[in-house]
Amino acid sequence: MTAVDPVPARVRKAEGPDRQAIVDLVIAAFGPVEGPEVVRLIADLEVDASAQPILSLVATVADRVSGHVLFSRASVETGDRELSAAILAPLAVHPEFQNAGIGGQLVMAGLRQLAATGMDLVFVLGHPDYYPRFGFAEAGVRGFDAPYPIAAKNAGAWMVLPLRPGIPGTVRVRVRCAEALNDPRYWRE
Ligand SMILES: CC(C)(COP(=O)(O)OP(=O)(O)OC[C@H]1O[C@@H](n2cnc3c(N)ncnc32)[C@H](O)[C@@H]1OP(=O)(O)O)[C@@H](O)C(=O)NCCC(=O)NCCS
Repeated sequence: MTAVDPVPARVRKAEGPDRQAIVDLVIAAFGPVEGPEVVRLIADLEVDASAQPILSLVATVADRVSGHVLFSRASVETGDRELSAAILAPLAVHPEFQNAGIGGQLVMAGLRQLAATGMDLVFVLGHPDYYPRFGFAEAGVRGFDAPYPIAAKNAGAWMVLPLRPGIPGTVRVRVRCAEALNDPRYWRE
């Protein structure tokens, strides 16, 4: 993939009128087979009480919605206390705007906002070549099991980013995700 010049994008919270633009860009980014499933996941998470609070952000370029990211609530029971966590999924940038830094802007804006709420951890199941640039690292070896087992050959795709120092990672724990994400089809990376 070749990087293009960074595009000046603005990142803001997604609002009701953005819905169709988000659907369109998700289908364009993920394609006609996977896209509708991702659109359904977003809709399910939006109405899922166990996913709240969700953080849904859009990137706009000249007022056109060009990228979207959603973080839903997760939690990690460590025995003595529950850590607050979010799962980053999905992230999509319209193909016309890919490789111009917009995905990065969305991820960084989300992480900043979640850190400001005092959140402990963020997880992602995604491209192991993409997310480490934001500080994500393999989660399984740090003791955090995904809601569903990840095949050993894809272990690197399940990643964690602590948002503050001193997060325990030595005890093996299973991450609990929102009901809408609690389906093996979303954990097949
Ligand atoms: C993955 C995606 C969100 C990245 O957004 P983007 O705005 O294009 O990416 P950025 O401009 O922030 O970053 C560009 C860098 O990411 C890399 N990158 C982009 N897509 C990648 C992928 N699928 N796997 C690994 N690296 C990727 C590029 O090679 C580039 O690397 P460089 O900085 O070393 O040159 C976007 O390509 C997309 O929507 N893809 C289709 C949907 C998808 O796969 N979503 C993510 C699911 S985990």
